[in-house]
Amino acid sequence: MNEPTPEQSKSAQFTSAQPTLEALRLELAELTQAAEHEFNSAISSPQLQQAKTKHLGKSSRLAAIRGGIGSLDKQMRREVGQLCNAASHTIEVALETRQAELLKLERSTQLEAESVDLTEVLGEISVGHFHIITQTRRALEDVFCGMGYQVAEGPEIETEWHNFGALNFPQGHPARDMYDTLYVDWGKPMSTLLRTHTSPVQVRTMTSQPPPIAVVAPGRCFRRDTADATHMPVFHQIEGLLIDRDISLGHLAGTIEAFTSAFFGEGFTSRLRPSYFPFTEPSAEFDIQRPDGSWLELGGSGMVHPNVLEACGIDPQEWSGFAFGFGIDRLAMIRYGVDDLRDLWTGDMRFLKQF
Ligand code: DAH
Repeated sequence: MNEPTPEQSKSAQFTSAQPTLEALRLELAELTQAAEHEFNSAISSPQLQQAKTKHLGKSSRLAAIRGGIGSLDKQMRREVGQLCNAASHTIEVALETRQAELLKLERSTQLEAESVDLTEVLGEISVGHFHIITQTRRALEDVFCGMGYQVAEGPEIETEWHNFGALNFPQGHPARDMYDTLYVDWGKPMSTLLRTHTSPVQVRTMTSQPPPIAVVAPGRCFRRDTADATHMPVFHQIEGLLIDRDISLGHLAGTIEAFTSAFFGEGFTSRLRPSYFPFTEPSAEFDIQRPDGSWLELGGSGMVHPNVLEACGIDPQEWSGFAFGFGIDRLAMIRYGVDDLRDLWTGDMRFLKQF
């Protein structure tokens, strides 16, 4: 607690002889004018706050005059009380008026500062660039193209057969429940959907070209998810598929390892962990080990299931292959140090310009 200074405690009372009503009226008029003047010359909210404390605060002259009312005689008390109320009302109105003005001013200054003039090409010309998801996708494509893969595409609206059926998810199979599928109201109920992964592009590739096949398929996927820092109902994956003669799990492990050092750089390694996917047998998840020893779970992979090859018209006796798939968005976040997935979806120039 601040002790009142001797000066303050003195000024809280009328110590000497009683001032005349006229003198007080004059003083209050002057105080009011001074406050109004100071409020109106304040050019920022903090400055206005200071002026407020000075003119309406506990140590203001107005407060001191009020504090002294008790020691006045009865008639004076009433009149001075009224004068004080009138003065503080006028001062408060002046304060509020200026407060509103400053707020408006400050808002428009901020808006001005943040506005983008699309017609102005003065001074420094700023050049746009690809979004960081696109940058990451292209970097991935580069690495795989360097390893002999071609880039394939498929539609975002898929048939149930391409997304599930041909990938060895039987009707009613519990593995379908792992995908919170968004169905499209088209054709028979649940026959058309927004693809839940890029794996249907495997099917589209195998049904449209003969082996040998080596493709990667990056693209958008959709699941019924609530947006938060690590989930979005729209996200990106990249799929890989290689079909040839005598392809083994060793080829898969070697490919993942070669990709890891090419994409992440020296000192990064990979491992496969047994897992389950209906469309691969055996299936494995793969993780990346960072130079500091920590692990990053990246995606799924495995040897293409004979049922999938057959569904796509490829003879599993003659051909075998591997597939893999992983999310692109999290890679972009790690690559560029973004910690909220939702930021990737803002069109905010202040965010986008950083990369
Ligand atoms: N499609 C899987 C998913 O979204 C990921 C995946 C797993 C893709 C294994 C593959 C694979 O190609 O072989 O969860």
